[in-house]
Amino acid sequence: MEINTVAILGGSGFVGQHVCHALAAEGYRVRVATRDRERAKKRLILLPTVDVDNVNVHDPAQLSAFVRGADAVINLVGVLHQASGAASFEQAHVEFARKVVTVCRGEHIERLLQMSALNADPAAPSLYLRTKGEAERVVRDSGLAWTIFRPSVIFGRGDRFLNLFARLLRFVPFLPLASPDARFQPVFVEDVAAAFERSLEEVESFGKSYDLCGPKVYTLRELVEYVNAVTGRRRPIIGLNDAMSYAQASTMELPPFKQILRALDMLMTRDNYYSMKVDSVCRCEFPFGIAPTALEAVAAAYLGNRTPRARYQEMRERARRQNQ
Ligand SMILES: NC(=O)c1ccc[n+]([C@@H]2O[C@H](COP(=O)([O-])OP(=O)(O)OC[C@H]3O[C@@H](n4cnc5c(N)ncnc54)[C@H](OP(=O)(O)O)[C@@H]3O)[C@@H](O)[C@H]2O)c1
Repeated sequence: MEINTVAILGGSGFVGQHVCHALAAEGYRVRVATRDRERAKKRLILLPTVDVDNVNVHDPAQLSAFVRGADAVINLVGVLHQASGAASFEQAHVEFARKVVTVCRGEHIERLLQMSALNADPAAPSLYLRTKGEAERVVRDSGLAWTIFRPSVIFGRGDRFLNLFARLLRFVPFLPLASPDARFQPVFVEDVAAAFERSLEEVESFGKSYDLCGPKVYTLRELVEYVNAVTGRRRPIIGLNDAMSYAQASTMELPPFKQILRALDMLMTRDNYYSMKVDSVCRCEFPFGIAPTALEAVAAAYLGNRTPRARYQEMRERARRQNQ
């Protein structure tokens, strides 16, 4: 299958920008759909083969028009916290996957790459993972040449996860940490993007799902201690037991805490707590012959040396997510 033009949904986000870079570097023409073209263009401006369009991707007619003429579609749209309307888990994950499959069929686009998450399963403990699992089912039953990616938590400059703890540690005298024993195998964003790019025309990857993890497993406490060390904060970290972890997440969901924490991109909900009930670790090698990057090789550079410019970028990123 020869692919020249790729339509990306969710291509202006943290992962999307890296996927655009990886595809542009290989000479693909890329179209990105966004709800805010000006903002997205600023992030993708240096990529000459990438075009950015303002599209309401939930409108089937607009979605069809956007993907028309493309050879492949990549769906990266996802939300981490339940919100109303198009940003609910059900709509952003399951309903949207149905719409994507329908327009691919309607526009005779055979190739579909779908971003899911490690442990996504219709029977998973959290709604985030259940709806990601249901979206996978929609894609698997599509009859298209699909490939699904299931990463553990993703790190890299501008990530949500390690940066959240870096910010928290800046403001609090000590950190009461929920689910400290939850296990993760964080994966570098550029490795995830490389996997998307490599699979695009790789017939072997059609009809396959790939779990994506980095080289090492950490507990949440170990990751936060690492952030504590590289940012030089040295805050005491107090691991909460299960009941206290649940209580902390419940409290964060009460008004006005929820609104404030969401604005600061520091929200942890009960749904996130449920997601952490399953270890986010892989039982397989990283695919496509890619040697996954160690967290220690890159994270200190963007967590430790926080210049005013880096903090400004992060502020802008938070404002963007707040408006989603
Ligand atoms: N980051 C991680 O650690 C991680 C781990 C596992 C899986 N994933 C999955 O990877 C994907 C990308 O994650 P990310 O970290 O790059 O997220 P992100 O930075 O928040 O980007 C998400 C993108 O999806 C679009 N989007 C979000 N909500 C939408 C909605 N309701 N309707 C239409 N478009 C919407 C946004 O596009 P515009 O704002 O431009 O319209 C944005 O560019 C998601 O599916 C996520 O679940 C991420």
